Amino acid sequence: MTFALPLLLTAIGYSAAAQDSLCAAHSPDADPSLYCLPLVPTPRAPHATGTVVLQPETSPFGMAVTRGGRVRSRLMLTLTGLPDPASLGPYRSYTAWATTPDLDPPIALGTVTNGRTVVGPIALERFIIMVSAERSAGVRSRKGPLVLRGSSPSLFMAPHGVTELPPASSAGHDHPMHGWMMPPMHPTASRMPYGLERFSPAVEPFLPSSSGDSIPDASASTIYHLADGDTITLTAGKTRRTLRGHRVLMYAYDGQIPGPRLEIPVGGTVTVRFRNGTDLPSSIHWHGLRLANANDGVPGLTQPLVPPGGEFVYRVHAPDAGLFWYHPHHRQDVTQDLGLAGNIVVRPRADGQAASREAFLVLDDLLIGGGGLVPYGREAPTHALMGRFGNTLLVNGIEDWRFEARPGEAVRLHLTNAASARTFNLSLDRARLRVMEGDAGPFSEPRTVESVVIAPAERYVVEARLDRAGSYALMNRVRGIDRVTGRFFSEIDTLGVLTVRGARVRPARTSLRPGTDTLLALARSLVGRRPDRILELSLRTRGLPYALIQALRLDTSYVHPVEWTSTMPMMDWLSTGREVTWTIRDSLSGAEGMALDWRVPRGAPLVVRLVNDKHVLHPMGHPIHLHGQRFLVLARNGLANRDPVWKDTVLVPAGGTVDLMVDTSNPGRWMLHCHIAEHLESGMHTVITIE
Ligand code: C2O
Ligand code: CU
Repeated sequence: MTFALPLLLTAIGYSAAAQDSLCAAHSPDADPSLYCLPLVPTPRAPHATGTVVLQPETSPFGMAVTRGGRVRSRLMLTLTGLPDPASLGPYRSYTAWATTPDLDPPIALGTVTNGRTVVGPIALERFIIMVSAERSAGVRSRKGPLVLRGSSPSLFMAPHGVTELPPASSAGHDHPMHGWMMPPMHPTASRMPYGLERFSPAVEPFLPSSSGDSIPDASASTIYHLADGDTITLTAGKTRRTLRGHRVLMYAYDGQIPGPRLEIPVGGTVTVRFRNGTDLPSSIHWHGLRLANANDGVPGLTQPLVPPGGEFVYRVHAPDAGLFWYHPHHRQDVTQDLGLAGNIVVRPRADGQAASREAFLVLDDLLIGGGGLVPYGREAPTHALMGRFGNTLLVNGIEDWRFEARPGEAVRLHLTNAASARTFNLSLDRARLRVMEGDAGPFSEPRTVESVVIAPAERYVVEARLDRAGSYALMNRVRGIDRVTGRFFSEIDTLGVLTVRGARVRPARTSLRPGTDTLLALARSLVGRRPDRILELSLRTRGLPYALIQALRLDTSYVHPVEWTSTMPMMDWLSTGREVTWTIRDSLSGAEGMALDWRVPRGAPLVVRLVNDKHVLHPMGHPIHLHGQRFLVLARNGLANRDPVWKDTVLVPAGGTVDLMVDTSNPGRWMLHCHIAEHLESGMHTVITIE
């Protein structure tokens, strides 16, 4: 195929602006500038026009992506004004095509007509859509004349113009470097020519202090088997660990990273005496448990802060079976990141045929530079815009997770994402994974997936059936954007290895927890209902260095639905909770955060729409968590969810919307917030009162 590509793109670029309103009309539930592209006619069909809406492909996760991390979308074409194909020559129908900017390879999407057609899915990042008249419906290569074409929003991502940035010398006031260590650069992405090197965050650096005491190395997590009515003590304290060749000072519950795994029988209540042996105030939140409000662990809302040396007693009630976790709820950006997180497992009563082997994986990342851990902000978090992405990926606190199973076994992986900001895209080499459970319960039907997308605070239970002996690498494969060149690239990390060896065992019959079809019926009955509340996730900043603002502005020429990685560590590091306010705003009243004063009668199903505002200085996906209740995801970008499961955390991609049905059965004052620790600490929370 021979096209003058630059010309083609320029033509599309110029007409795109004029057609934006068309896109807005056809993409009412998602931001048209990210999820829609206008189609413009060629001279062969001057009256034809149309739009292509990028719809999220069905997935049990918040995002559908390939094993390599490319977003999968269906394309909804809405076309008008196409002439009778016979009027253009010996043609009988129209075919839609998707292709890369190099026009290679062209992918036949199928026959289209005036009106609406949904085709795909495709997993292209930068692409062109074309419509041509063809001799027959089933053609595999384009021969007939082109009538419409358009380019994906990502094609408008321009390589950076260095000249648009102010020279380093005029870059506003700066903060002296005292005590700060610059974050390490990204190993692949081009370095930004920004002159931001003179800046450091507008807060004091903080790391735990060793104060001469002998601090033991962290040990691996153990299991606390608890019966209804048991009492335990859980002490948060300091610990040491060697990571990336550095001796680092961290925190741990009872000296273990992750914290001890608490096994609680369903319906049971245990008493936990929490002792704070760290040098920051703290509390424990029992993430996902629908317990009594006074035990929820939110300082300032349900209890006072527990000072260093202080104590607090929790009555931890576990009404639902599932995989939950616990962590502090004060300066999580520091304390949870440094190791304070553990699982809670609540087994269903009849767990008849359990998987033959189970593994628990707490996923995390840490930011380690040439001198050890990059310090945190003392008064407020650093990385307030992007969230703190680590450069060292950890499973259960270590860099090389190891697990063994026997051929034929069904291994059930219990995944918890305890990272501050990172969404993982996990796969196990060559193995197919079946998704069995989400945050707070089983799926009605397990789905086979090639990878698991897990946002901060989410949990999934997946089953890997490993018939052949050998080593299976646990991989994280995501796509980064090199902002300097405007290109996507692969970021691939090996988190560990699962080795299958020994005598073969007879494959166990897979167990499924019973009776969840009702969820689907419930979710379906509510689809299309007008939301009771619309909450907008947005951002305000003040006092950021001008050079940083300019750099950020250039980066919004294209926004990825999910930020998988930090490719500009210096830039991401500089913003702090002092300059950044992330907001949750009621779209009707305009009330924000704690002023929202949101009261809901207990028991009535509540439909909430979360709208992620893309038109801010730093748009990104937000994993939103609601305390003390559970919810079903009804729809994403207006499209019904086919895999509803009880959840307590949901990823809302940039520019997207998510509709939830909240089971409001647990009275009290409950926090709703973003689980990116730096966003939570920068204001992204509100309270819902269930009366
Ligand atoms: Cu897991 Cu309010 O948090
Ligand atoms: Cu957020």
